[in-house]
Amino acid sequence: MSPARAYRVAVIPGDGIGREVIAEAVRVLAEVGRRYEVALSFEEGLAGGGAIDAVGHPIPLETVELCRRSDAILLGACGGPKWDRGPVHLRPEQALFTLRKTFQLYANLRPAIVSAPLVDASPLRRDLVEGTDILIVRELCGGMYFGAQSRAGTGEAATATDTLPYSVAEIRRVVKKACEIARLRPRRKVTSVDKANVLETSRLWREVATEVARDFPDVAVEHMLVDNAALQLVRNPRQFDVIVTENTFGDILSDEAAGVIGSLGLMPSASLGEAAPGLFEPVHGTAPDIAGKGIANPLAAILTAALLLRYGAGHEAAAAAIETAVTRALADGCRTGDMAGTTAPLGTAAMTDAVLARLA
Ligand code: NAD
Ligand code: IPM
Ligand code: MN
Repeated sequence: MSPARAYRVAVIPGDGIGREVIAEAVRVLAEVGRRYEVALSFEEGLAGGGAIDAVGHPIPLETVELCRRSDAILLGACGGPKWDRGPVHLRPEQALFTLRKTFQLYANLRPAIVSAPLVDASPLRRDLVEGTDILIVRELCGGMYFGAQSRAGTGEAATATDTLPYSVAEIRRVVKKACEIARLRPRRKVTSVDKANVLETSRLWREVATEVARDFPDVAVEHMLVDNAALQLVRNPRQFDVIVTENTFGDILSDEAAGVIGSLGLMPSASLGEAAPGLFEPVHGTAPDIAGKGIANPLAAILTAALLLRYGAGHEAAAAAIETAVTRALADGCRTGDMAGTTAPLGTAAMTDAVLARLA
C-alpha cells in the first residue's frame, strides 16, 4: 500500500507583512498537520512587488504553474508604495487578479466573527456586537475589477472610465454558492447587497438573486442597498448571517466588517471556484506602515490556514483545532498591538507561539 499523497500547498508570501504572517501560518499548519496526521507539503512561489523586482513581472508563469499543480494556494498579500507608480500591468496587485481569474475563484468567503474574547476588541458597544457571526461572500471574478478601463484626453480635458459588467451566469453561480452555504448555517439567511436603485448591473443582480432564491425555499433571501448595508453593519451587525455581493461592494464591506470585529488583522478569507486549487489569504494587505517591525497580527493568516484545512483539504477537525487555539489565546488575554485595549502587546512570533501552546 502506498501512503496517501501529501496535500500540496503553494505558498506565496508576497510583500510587506504578507511575508511575516505567512511564515507563522505555515508554522501552525505544519504543527497541526503533524498532530492530525494531515500530510502537507509546501512549495514557495514568487508574486507581487518582490517578483517585479526579481523578474520584472508581478506573477511569473512558474508561479502560476506551481499553483496549477497544487491542491491549495496560501497567499500573504501583494503591493506597496514602491510599486505604486508603475504601469497598470506591472502593479503587484495584478498577481491577485491573475490567480483569481485563472482558477475562476469566484466565491470569496470572508467571515466576520465576534467570539466571546473579542467582544471588547470591537470599537462598538458590547451589546451591539456580542454574538456577531457574518459570512461575507464577495464575487471575485467580475465587475469593475475586470471591466474595460480607459483614459482619454489630456490636462483638464482628461477623462477616465471604468466599467462594471456582470453576466447572468456570473451572478447566478455566486448567489447559488451563498445560498448553499447559508443552508448549512443555523439561521439560513442571505442578504444580497446591491445598488439596484441606480446601477443596471445591480438590477440584473437582484433579478437573478430573486430567481436563485426560489430554488432555496429553506433559505430566507432578502435584498439590501449597499449604502444601507454599510450603515446596518455598524448599527446592528447581528442582523446579518450570509451577505452576498458584487466584487467592489464586497471589498469595501469586508474591511468595514473587519473594523466591527476589532481589526483587519483578524479576518481570514477563502476564494473558491468549482475545483481545486482554492486560494486562501488574509483579507488585509501588506501594511507598509508596520512592515518589518515584527508586530503584525498573525491571526488573520493563522485563521486562513484553518479555512485552507476546512474548505481546501476537507479536514474539519484540524481546522477547528486551530480556531479553538486562537480563541483560547485571545481568552487568555494574548493580543497584538492592533487590537483595542492592549496594554502589553505581543509581537507576530510570540502571538503565534501563544496559539501553538494552546493547540489541542
Ligand atoms: P492594509 O490592509 O495593508 O492596511 C490597512 C491598515 O490596517 C494599516 O494601518 C495596517 O497597519 C493595518 N493592518 C492590516 N493588517 C494588519 C495586521 N495583520 N496586523 C496589524 N495591523 C494590520 O491596507 P492598505 O494600507 O490600504 O494597503 C497596503 C498595500 O497592500 C497596498 O499596496 C494594497 O494594494 C495592498 N493590499 C493587498 C491585499 C492582498 O494582497 N490581498 C489586500 C489589501 C491591500
Ligand atoms: C483585497 C484587496 C485587493 C482587492 C486589492 C489589493 C487589489 O483589497 O483582497 O481585499 O481589492 O481585491
Ligand atoms: Mn480589500
